[in-house]
Amino acid sequence: MKNEKLIGKLAVITGAGSGIGKETAILLAKKGLNLFLFGGRDASKLEKTAELVKKEGVKCFVLSGDITDTNIIKRGVLEAEKLGGADILINNAGMAFNAPYEQTDYKIFDNIMALNVKAPYFIIQKFLPQLKKSSWATIINICSVVSHAGYTGQSAYTASKHAMLGLTKSLASEVYQDGIRVHAISPGGVYTDMVKISRPDLTDEGMIKPEEIADIIAFLIENRGNAVIDEIIVHRVNKQPFLV
Ligand SMILES: NC(=O)c1ccc[n+]([C@@H]2O[C@H](COP(=O)([O-])OP(=O)(O)OC[C@H]3O[C@@H](n4cnc5c(N)ncnc54)[C@H](OP(=O)(O)O)[C@@H]3O)[C@@H](O)[C@H]2O)c1
Repeated sequence: MKNEKLIGKLAVITGAGSGIGKETAILLAKKGLNLFLFGGRDASKLEKTAELVKKEGVKCFVLSGDITDTNIIKRGVLEAEKLGGADILINNAGMAFNAPYEQTDYKIFDNIMALNVKAPYFIIQKFLPQLKKSSWATIINICSVVSHAGYTGQSAYTASKHAMLGLTKSLASEVYQDGIRVHAISPGGVYTDMVKISRPDLTDEGMIKPEEIADIIAFLIENRGNAVIDEIIVHRVNKQPFLV
């Protein structure tokens, strides 16, 4: 399962305490990557991910805290530098919010944009010097099917995920000449805490498993050939493809 080409390289993942981030951390550890994991507000969740990652015999460093706080980012960048620098950066942390447009106030809008757009925007900027030195530099931004469509009752989340995709496109064109590959993954419903909390009406039936998104992330990282993938849009099984 270990990939000789990836052993010892450092992957940075945000939101690694649960869902897609957690499963990605575990899978990348199985491939032999060392991990630098940013958590969120709940440090115990991140510790659990770290325990599972360390079982794979790789190095794992964790930093909990709110990534909208620039001090957390600064600390993470410095620590990652000491470890030899990031080769891979996965911008995964995010929040959803379901409410009619008219009930979305300034505070909610600002919180969503701060976490889903501003934080990854500047995390990427701060990690770029490290990525530029890597022979395997890869940035993966977790967008959403709502990066392409407007879902009722998700105006702020949809705006943030459109912005994340826009950032991904622009960034990809700017850093490609530095040898940095930039990819977007845009999933439909993945059965994680986010869905369990924001859509309690849904069950896991027909939903994407977070492990399936982790598989796609690993595929993008492992297959660094002449065929360059911009974006992978992933639908859950009971949604009609191309009609998000
Ligand atoms: N689930 C879906 O259907 C779906 C579909 C498309 C795209 N996505 C995207 O996939 C990404 C991962 O979400 P998920 O589904 O895996 O949900 P999740 O399990 O809720 O994961 C989100 C992670 O982000 C962290 N986080 C939240 N606020 C944070 C903050 N201020 N600072 C640092 N970390 C913070 C959370 O940690 P704490 O709870 O400890 O704060 C959590 O571990 C998100 O960007 C989401 O928009 C999800």
